[in-house]
Amino acid sequence: MKLDPTVLRTMSKEDFRVLEAVEKGMKDHALVPLPLTTSIANLRHGGAHKIVSSLLRDKLLSHERTKNGYDGYRVTNAGYDILALQNLKARKIVAALGQRIGTGKESDVYLAVDLSGQQIVLKFHRLGRTSFRNVKKKRDYFGNAAQQAHSWLFLSTLSALKEFAFMKALYDVHYSTPVPIAHNRHIVAMGLVRGVPLYQVFPKQLSAEQAADIYEQAIALAARLAKHGLVHCDLNEFNLLVDLSEPIARLDNGDPKPVVTLIDFPQMISTKHPNAQELYERDLACLRRFFELKIQCTI
Ligand SMILES: Nc1ncnc2c1ncn2[C@@H]1O[C@H](COP(=O)(O)OP(=O)(O)OP(=O)(O)O)[C@@H](O)[C@H]1O
Ligand SMILES: [Mg+2]
Repeated sequence: MKLDPTVLRTMSKEDFRVLEAVEKGMKDHALVPLPLTTSIANLRHGGAHKIVSSLLRDKLLSHERTKNGYDGYRVTNAGYDILALQNLKARKIVAALGQRIGTGKESDVYLAVDLSGQQIVLKFHRLGRTSFRNVKKKRDYFGNAAQQAHSWLFLSTLSALKEFAFMKALYDVHYSTPVPIAHNRHIVAMGLVRGVPLYQVFPKQLSAEQAADIYEQAIALAARLAKHGLVHCDLNEFNLLVDLSEPIARLDNGDPKPVVTLIDFPQMISTKHPNAQELYERDLACLRRFFELKIQCTI
């Protein structure tokens, strides 16, 4: 889906109020009827009809009719993006949205600019991209909510909430993670990390000592997380960002010490999880395989 933040500029307070009213109604209605929307929005001049039409035109709402005659509205993914962006804008966290820098199975990652002109990152969680069975299989934290939820947006919000909470907890005890800035609905705002994912680092760019150092840092991260009762569950070359550009320290041989940052936390689990041991070993095995095959570094 293409994200078009320009509608933000032309939307009125009432437009947001109606969009939010449908969102509220969706907590217990798969489709929110117009009278309910009007009543939740509680507009001074009554009817939300005209506003609903313009939200439909901008594809922030969709209108659906079931076979048994039930008629109502729901917020689209684009509508949810706009609500979350508006929240971050109102809280003065985001001033402008920039280009997309990453697309995962379950997220879109964008550059953005904050009010001081600094670049930040917005990660939009999009759990609807995989099948429901996969979501349930991969993410164990939905519990009953998954059965109740008729909304992917709800699952994406849970995922963002979990990512932000982990990032903040780890950052607070000085793990090398992006700076957690804020979250709203399915979006996590965080600091922009310098460097590239490890899979994009060419072996030729690294000395043997640097490769070994990155491997050691990754293994140390896994061990430290385990001491804190956590398993990352996706600790691999895609979720380790490596920066070689501005050395803050040197290795014994004088080479710049790589700065390694861990990202992507929604799938993290407790070491008390029944499969924790297996998943911890899988993380370590993935790292070892990557370093042996791709970086051709003997471990
Ligand atoms: N804070 C950040 N700074 C710089 N780049 C980032 C940052 N966060 C994410 N990225 C870029 O976006 C890509 C995807 O991010 P991330 O791994 O968090 O999501 P994902 O893999 O799509 O998530 P999922 O596992 O749900 O599919 C990363 O590989 C990285 O290139
Ligand atoms: Mg990732």
